[in-house]
Amino acid sequence: MDEKNIKQKEFWSGSGGDVWVNKQKEMDIMLNPLGQRAIEKLKLSSSEIILDIGCGCGATTLEIAKDIPKGKITGVDISEPMLDRAREDALKMSLSNTDFVVRDVQTDEIDNNHFDIAFSRFGVMFFEDPYEAFKNINKALKKGGQLSFVCWQQASLNPWQSLSIEVIRGFLDLPAPPPKGPGPFAFEDKSYVQDILESSNFQEIEIMGNEEQIIMFSGKSLKEACEDYLTINPIVTEMLKNSANELKEEILEALMTKFSDFHKEEGLVFPSATWIVTAKK
Ligand SMILES: C[S@@+](CC[C@H](N)C(=O)[O-])C[C@H]1O[C@@H](n2cnc3c(N)ncnc32)[C@H](O)[C@@H]1O
Repeated sequence: MDEKNIKQKEFWSGSGGDVWVNKQKEMDIMLNPLGQRAIEKLKLSSSEIILDIGCGCGATTLEIAKDIPKGKITGVDISEPMLDRAREDALKMSLSNTDFVVRDVQTDEIDNNHFDIAFSRFGVMFFEDPYEAFKNINKALKKGGQLSFVCWQQASLNPWQSLSIEVIRGFLDLPAPPPKGPGPFAFEDKSYVQDILESSNFQEIEIMGNEEQIIMFSGKSLKEACEDYLTINPIVTEMLKNSANELKEEILEALMTKFSDFHKEEGLVFPSATWIVTAKK
């Protein structure tokens, strides 16, 4: 494979991907309602041909597959372990209109003029060059094809991120990551997303704000939830990768104190802010 996006490939096909596979249930409880907002924007007929970008363990691919019995949905991702999980689940659910393939959506060729819809739940913010990636996505769509995805607004509106970074910065003096660099918040700036889509020849672009509560690590104790949190977030794991275990323990304690007000019976309950983005080719 091309050396572009190498850090993301290492994370998502390595430790990060394994954690996402192990915590799939909890992640889906958190992300399902937000993914649903982007699915609701699609005008689906039963025979659509759909691309699920950065499909991960395939929750949205399988969900959409049920609504297109005569169509087909292809989940693409750079993470082998996550795609393996998606394939297993498709088999268990006897869904034969799905396909899961390893593709770097930025650099690899995807069938041209082939898809009616390109969809993503939080799978489009990790490209080193999003302009190249969205041009590739545009090429993959048929004329008039729909694009719909959900991504995070800025960290300050998503306290699960901003508060944890505040905690870590109390212990470690780390440079701030480059603002638009690959990561969960790469698309926080609406005008940047608009520019990427316009430059990639998308039309009828709409970027709508969505605010709702999310449940992280459903049913877990505060300690378990904070432990999981520290392993699952690519920004946080990158910050902590060279830290001694003792320091990680101290950070965990501090995070538990910071997150305690948000811990309810259901898990960690946080406000969240996302962009629901739609466009046409
Ligand atoms: C936050 S996860 C979301 C996964 C899944 N869509 C979900 O909602 O559970 C981001 C996903 O994007 C994938 N990804 C990152 N860079 C990618 C690239 N260049 N091409 C394809 N997938 C990519 C990762 O491997 C990961 O599965």
